[in-house]
Amino acid sequence: MDPEQIALVQASLVHIQPIADTIAALFYQRLHQLDPSTRCLFQDGSPHAEQSFMRLLWWVIQELHQPERVLPHAQALGRQHAHNGVQSRHYVVAGVALLWALRQSLQQQFTPEIEAAWARTFALLAETMAEAAGHERLHPSLEE
Ligand code: HEM
Repeated sequence: MDPEQIALVQASLVHIQPIADTIAALFYQRLHQLDPSTRCLFQDGSPHAEQSFMRLLWWVIQELHQPERVLPHAQALGRQHAHNGVQSRHYVVAGVALLWALRQSLQQQFTPEIEAAWARTFALLAETMAEAAGHERLHPSLEE
């Protein structure tokens, strides 16, 4: 990722942090709506997964200038996800749901440039996770 996109996505965290729980809830609602088959992957609702997902995203975004620190963790997480039944198409839907939740929550603060930077960040993470799990390459909509 280029430094400008990294700076954009990192700066957006100031607006996201106070409403991170709402964004996470919207994300899961949208994910389950877009692909109801994702519902049964989660045990007992998803509060634990919601928090873990946001925390992981946070960490990755803070370390974007040195991705070698986080990518090995993402690879292990991807293998674990495959073990839990997550397939490559789920990453594509999750990317759509996450951008939707951010757009709904941040409204005009979520400019097209910030959205592109978020899309790139999610794609980097999702591609790393999916490739480590041996999935085929993700749909082009996850690319820049
Ligand atoms: C970039 C994308 C993703 C990230 C960063 C991410 C992150 C995480 C993290 C950090 C955990 C907790 C792991 C643990 O407790 O050891 C988790 C759990 C989980 N994730 Fe993801 N995840 C992603 C995508 C997905 C997708 C696309 C799905 C399926 C639709 C999914 C389904 C799950 C499930 C089923 C669990 C276990 C939840 C439970 O215990 O009920 N994740 N995820």
